[in-house]
Amino acid sequence: MGNQSVLLRQYDAWFDSAGLKGFLARHLFGTFGLWATSTPLVRLPEELSLTTHTVHLDIGSGTGALARHLSLRTGSSVAPVLVDFSSSALKIGRQNEPLGKFDITINPHLLQATATDLPLKTATFTLITCGYIAKHLDKTDLLKLFSEAYRLLAPGGLFLLWEFGPSGNKKLDRWNSFVLSRYVSKPILRSTETLQELAESVGFDFYEDARLRPFLFPPIPRASILTGKPPDGIELPDRLRN
Ligand SMILES: C[S@@+](CC[C@H](N)C(=O)[O-])C[C@H]1O[C@@H](n2cnc3c(N)ncnc32)[C@H](O)[C@@H]1O
Repeated sequence: MGNQSVLLRQYDAWFDSAGLKGFLARHLFGTFGLWATSTPLVRLPEELSLTTHTVHLDIGSGTGALARHLSLRTGSSVAPVLVDFSSSALKIGRQNEPLGKFDITINPHLLQATATDLPLKTATFTLITCGYIAKHLDKTDLLKLFSEAYRLLAPGGLFLLWEFGPSGNKKLDRWNSFVLSRYVSKPILRSTETLQELAESVGFDFYEDARLRPFLFPPIPRASILTGKPPDGIELPDRLRN
């Protein structure tokens, strides 16, 4: 947890800052950022056939912009659960204007916790999302995050994870790491293949490149993986297994 407590302090300081630094945190990890830095996620309701009954958990939710968007678009009847270890991020999420049926100001499901140890009930969620935190986790902690996602998914549920990835050019990757570590610790950039291997090693039977692109900003490649648990009683045919 040593590195994680340093990171937590860095994120708290970033979200709490005045001036340009705080403005960037609130907007890059807010609704503007959803469109600019996570552009393909805007179409998730259609791409994943989300419904009003989708039970959504967002791990490393920042200000909660994605969950708000999905709730609004699906007319969700189930309050999503937003988990972040930064109380400063959750505070901003709590202050956001209520949207549609999803009123984050009275939503009880804002949870301050670490992604590697989630105090939530097994087999609860039909959609788990996790954006831009894998770069902060070493292999052991990333495996814990995948294990928690596996435990928390209900049968038939989907897990979508995306993160900045390597470009294939070492010099460019060094530059990208420099840009990404402006306010927080140096990132670990992993390919989609590496993410797939980690998912498989905790028990996910199938997975694919989520092909979330193009992202408008910043011009750093993303790696993404879509995986999940088959519904109860369904034996996956071999051709669907990786
Ligand atoms: C780069 S921001 C991304 C926020 C949001 N997912 C988005 O795409 O706008 C990363 C968020 O994850 C949180 N975070 C980072 N590491 C975490 C961990 N180990 N457990 C819980 N939250 C974490 C940070 O506090 C921050 O709010």
